[in-house]
Order: sequence, then structure tokens, then C-alpha cells
Amino acid sequence: MWQPCTVLIFLATLIVVNCQNSAFDITNQIHLLRPKSGSGGDLIPGISCSSWRLGVEAHNIIDWKLIPTECEDYVGHYMLGKQYREDSKVVASEAFAYANGLNLTNDGNNIWIFDIDETTLSNLPYYADHGFGAELFNATSFNEWVDRGEAPALPESLELYNKLLSLGIKAVFLTGREEDQREVTVKNLKQAGYNNWEKLILKDSSFSGKTAVFYKSSHRRNLEKKGYKIIGNIGDQWSDLLGTPTGNRTFKLPDPMYYIG
Ligand SMILES: *[C@@H]1O[C@H](CO)[C@@H](O)[C@H](O)[C@H]1NC(C)=O
Ligand SMILES: *[C@@H]1O[C@H](CO)[C@@H](O)[C@H](O)[C@H]1NC(C)=O
Ligand SMILES: *[C@@H]1O[C@H](CO)[C@@H](O)[C@H](O)[C@H]1NC(C)=O
Ligand SMILES: [Mg+2]
Repeated sequence: MWQPCTVLIFLATLIVVNCQNSAFDITNQIHLLRPKSGSGGDLIPGISCSSWRLGVEAHNIIDWKLIPTECEDYVGHYMLGKQYREDSKVVASEAFAYANGLNLTNDGNNIWIFDIDETTLSNLPYYADHGFGAELFNATSFNEWVDRGEAPALPESLELYNKLLSLGIKAVFLTGREEDQREVTVKNLKQAGYNNWEKLILKDSSFSGKTAVFYKSSHRRNLEKKGYKIIGNIGDQWSDLLGTPTGNRTFKLPDPMYYIG
């Protein structure tokens, strides 16, 4: 028997389903989308995966090695669905609104630091093939993927990059990739649409064994010593952003796939 309330719920469900379907027109898709947003927070006994992800993004959960097994599907749906892109868009939009609101003197010394992996370029095609957290990180197969130089841009970051350049802010790429991957990184950046940069800093052997925070903040300090002004700094890891000097403002992109300390 159809009660008025049942009919209403039924209609509401239809509307929700329609809204979800129409939300899949994401431009510049970086990987085939999965038909789930990943934003629902599949509640499993003892842990909500969306709470785990919030804990990770807020840097309350640190030094983790693997995505909790129960949350692998959740993270996969999040990364390949629309929520990751929407979250990235908020970060990039806020970054541009901030930069655009500054009254910068265009003396050629204003720079913006971009991390590369999961910031400038996306390794989502690799992780989609190898699974989200099912196995420990395999440096050999990951480096094989990097050496192909085919990583697409994270579209939200590419848009931010172009808009910052139009404000006269120069890009500095500061990456944990090592010097022997310079050539392929240059090729990949250009292929993905990044054509101008002030510097591309890769990790040399003097930093081997040092933390990412030490490596990256040391280079930021050197850049300031040379007279550059770090207007902003964007990365997917907290280790891209912590350690002085940080830059005038920092912007954290989502990354529930891995943790680099
Ligand atoms: C921007 O800076 C210039 C010189 O530094 C100043 O003359 C101008 O009034 C400033 N504009 C705003 C909107 O603050
Ligand atoms: C890591 O990847 C390489 C290259 O694909 C493969 O030969 C190797 O077996 C992998 N190692 C593990 C532990 O899975
Ligand atoms: C950046 O921070 C420095 C040091 O606090 C400050 O002097 C400078 O005005 C800031 N620049 C901008 C663009 O906010
Ligand atoms: Mg990164």
C-alpha cells in the first residue's frame, strides 16, 4: 500500500539518483570514474572510513604505512570518483583567490612552490592498476611508471598554475623525485601542459637519508636567501608544507593513498 510518505521518499530517491548521474560530467577526467562518490563514509565496525580520511588530511593520523584494509574500496572510490576532484577544486580555488587578492609588486621574485606527484602530476592511473593500499609500495614498479613520463596533470593544479603565471607569479617545482629522473620529469611536465618554470628542484644525493621536511624546507630557505618571495606552497603531503620557512600560505591537496614523513 503506497502511503504518501513512501511516495515522497521514493521521489526523493529518484531526485538523488538523477543528481548523482548528472554530476559525472567532470572535465579533464584523469581516469575512468567509478559510479560512487566515495563521500558516503561506509561505516564498518569500529571505523568510519570517512573519519579515517579526515584524520589523515588533518594530520591527526600520521606515519601510517597502509590504508586500513576495510577502507581500500572506500579510498579507491574516493580517488576515482568525483569527490577527490571536487576537494582538489576547493583547494585550488582558495589558493587562487588568495593570490589574486594580494597587491603584489611584480619584481620577478614572487614564486609559488608546487610539489609534483599527486599535486602537479597525477599517478592515479598507476594506483588504479596496482590497487589502493593492497600491497606495500613497490618502488621498482612505481619508478617504471614514472620513467614512462605519461602521468597526466591534476587538472585543478594545472588551472591554478596557469592563473598564477598570469598574475606574474613564477612556478618552482620542488619534488622528492631524484636527479636521475630529471629528464623524464621535464618531458612529463611539458606533455601535461606545464611549460614554464623558474626552477625544477629534484633531490640530490646530499639529501639521501634525510626527511622530506628537512629536504624541502632547506630548499625553501635557499630560495628565500636568493631573494625569492614564497607567496604560496601547495602539496599533497604535510611534509611538503611543514618546516620553516613554509611560504606565506600553504595549501594541502587531498591524498589518502600514501603518507610521506
Ligand atoms: C597596490 O600597491 C601600489 C604600490 O605598491 C599602491 O600604489 C596601490 O594603492 C595598491 N593598491 C591597493 C588596492 O592596495
Ligand atoms: C615490484 O615490481 C616489480 C616490477 O614490476 C616486480 O618484478 C616485483 O615482483 C614487485 N615486487 C613485489 C614485492 O611485488
Ligand atoms: C609574506 O610574509 C612576510 C613575512 O611575514 C611578510 O613580510 C610579507 O608581507 C608577506 N607577503 C605577502 C604577499 O603576504
Ligand atoms: Mg606529492
